[in-house]
Amino acid sequence: MDIPTKNTRKILVTQALPYANAPLHLGHILEAVQTDIWTRFQNMNGNQCYFFCADDTHGTPVMLKAKEKGITPEELIKDVLNDHKETYDLYGIKFTNFYTTHSEENKKYSEKIYLEAKKNNLISKEIVEQLYDENEQMFLSDRFIKGSCPKCGAPDQHGDNCSVCGASYDVLEIKDPISILSNSEPIKKDSEHIFFDLPKKIDTLREFLNKSNLQTPIKNKLKEWLSDDLKKWDISRDEPYFGFKIPDEINKYFYVWVDAPIGYIASMDNWFKNNNIDTKEVWSPNSNYEIFHFIGKDIAYFHGLFWPALLSSANFKLPNGIFVHGFLTVNGEKMSKSKGTGILAKEFANIINPETLRYYFAAKLNNKVEDIDLNFEDYVQRINSDLVGKYLNIASRSASFIKKNKNVLSTNINKNILNNLILKKDEIISLYETREYSKLVRIIMDLADDINKYINEQTPWKKDINEAVDITSTAINAFYIITTYLHPIIPNITNEAFKFLNIKKISIDDVDKTEINKINNYKPLLNRLDKI
Ligand code: MSP
Ligand code: ZN
Repeated sequence: MDIPTKNTRKILVTQALPYANAPLHLGHILEAVQTDIWTRFQNMNGNQCYFFCADDTHGTPVMLKAKEKGITPEELIKDVLNDHKETYDLYGIKFTNFYTTHSEENKKYSEKIYLEAKKNNLISKEIVEQLYDENEQMFLSDRFIKGSCPKCGAPDQHGDNCSVCGASYDVLEIKDPISILSNSEPIKKDSEHIFFDLPKKIDTLREFLNKSNLQTPIKNKLKEWLSDDLKKWDISRDEPYFGFKIPDEINKYFYVWVDAPIGYIASMDNWFKNNNIDTKEVWSPNSNYEIFHFIGKDIAYFHGLFWPALLSSANFKLPNGIFVHGFLTVNGEKMSKSKGTGILAKEFANIINPETLRYYFAAKLNNKVEDIDLNFEDYVQRINSDLVGKYLNIASRSASFIKKNKNVLSTNINKNILNNLILKKDEIISLYETREYSKLVRIIMDLADDINKYINEQTPWKKDINEAVDITSTAINAFYIITTYLHPIIPNITNEAFKFLNIKKISIDDVDKTEINKINNYKPLLNRLDKI
């Protein structure tokens, strides 16, 4: 009889859906790496963990970008989707499904959730006055307006806040507004908008904040927003808009932030269909699945308030946790999403083995909302000293001795040395679980240091062949344990290492149950990096 030894958790993980109007930059990769490491760890620790994402395709920026390129939005998002998938692939990001928000499944779930909310009296209409560009024949969101600050008069200010005096104001108050789309003066125009009644969901949201797995500063920020005066949420946009039409309305579209997170459900549904999983059951309040969202700090409001409110209005399960990371800076400087600066992920992967960036990010990531700096000098130094100088060095210096023994390892190995490594297993598992990657990287590198010291002290090069093989066999078994610990972080390098070790099945929990008998010839798995 097959008795399960431990409870297998069923976990669904998402990262934020990147916008389909631009290529991915290294900030996107930071988030993907954080999420991918967690997913890979869960699966290698006996759980069933699935990783879903999609491109976020709707909204004005995609529409305008397509126009600028002289193609349809559909063509644009198709090209971008391919490009995004290729880029993530370069970094070893292993999605269960990477889909698009411009899909039948997403339309179905967006309408369904909206209609449920409407049935539950959470939808209402109001007339709003907005700036309108008569040349472009469209309403202008804040980001498409420039003007002088109504408080201090500073010229050339964007949208709803002043970068000179710091005032924030309603976009309608801005003086001498100019539409940046046509460089003309917009007019004020009324339009009927559809609102979601966020204040009616306040109790649900309070309960959500108390129950779910959130970092303390995020929880506090969300609580603060909740106790501010909560407003109804404007969920409609007028034509022209690239998105889904709102059912039973004329020429009204869902605001992109309505169907974007519903895209998580749609990406899952698209995959579940072919894998015998019932989407309804997964998203029901008594689901057997845990759901976690990995996001950046700029979109905490959407995920912490709007999203659970939407879900609960249709009686869907709420997420078990939201894990928020800080922003990536490069050599101490901000990367700007709106200016499109920052390093493009595809270009970076052309210059440097992308797997080394996974290691560098892991070495800097923790479970706090802190920003992370990519410093090139530090990067080169760390890869060379940790991965090449400590970790892989164990294999390369040991393999030559074992080769003299026809690549067969000795069974007379030093168990004490290996036990020291195995003793760290539970701590490492728990640090993966709590996303304390930088701590666990430090522990693993200390272990690698210990093994190199052991080899130095034992001086196999001075010993007869039998003794030398005993010593280096101990080292190779240690290398196996360290490889297992590092696998979620550098999956490709470690997979090559597992081939060298003749290992087929990888399990972090069983790391103490395997002994290496025979290796293959060692080929360098990573070269030292030159200055970037
Ligand atoms: N499309 C929305 C998310 C919708 S989720 C239902 C969006 N897209 S984005 O392309 O602007 O950002 C995608 C993710 O990348 C977000 O979590 C964002 O915080 C993150 N990052 C964008 N720039 C970043 C850095 N410079 N550093 C780290 N993460 C960054 O927001
Ligand atoms: Zn001002």
